Amino acid sequence: MYRISAILAAAGLLLLVGSAFAAPPATVPPPAATPTVDLVAQGRALFVAKGCVSCHRHAAVPDSGPFSGDDVPDLSAPRSDAEFLRRWLTNPAAMKPDTYMPRLTLSNPEIDALVAFLGHG
Ligand code: HEC
Repeated sequence: MYRISAILAAAGLLLLVGSAFAAPPATVPPPAATPTVDLVAQGRALFVAKGCVSCHRHAAVPDSGPFSGDDVPDLSAPRSDAEFLRRWLTNPAAMKPDTYMPRLTLSNPEIDALVAFLGHG
């Protein structure tokens, strides 16, 4: 008798422990809030961080573009469509083999932000 109740008690305990592990969490955490990152501001920061400023002028970025002029475009005003910009920023030389603009190995999110900053949401 003692044995059987001990076994039943142990089994009950196991069930309890097991169900505690198997039970879904009481409250499912809400999905992470949609990032409200301001893409344009992010692109502006990348324009500095990625060194675009060392060649290009942009009116929104102080001290940018020592080389802007005939050969290096001032990027203050939108000049190309978003599709062109994406391809250009991915690899300038693929579009213009003799360009002086280096390939800056940007990630897709970085390119999205830069395109937004350059005025082509
Ligand atoms: C070493 C200097 C240099 C750097 C750094 C540089 N560029 Fe350029 N970029 C150029 C030159 C030169 C051109 C002109 C392209 C040509 O006609 O050969 C150009 C062209 C462009 C154009 C115009 C494309 C068109 O034809 O409409 C855009 C947009 C641009 N660059 C964006 C950027 C961005 C964004 C960065 C930073 C991620 C950057 N550049 C970094 C030199 C540079």
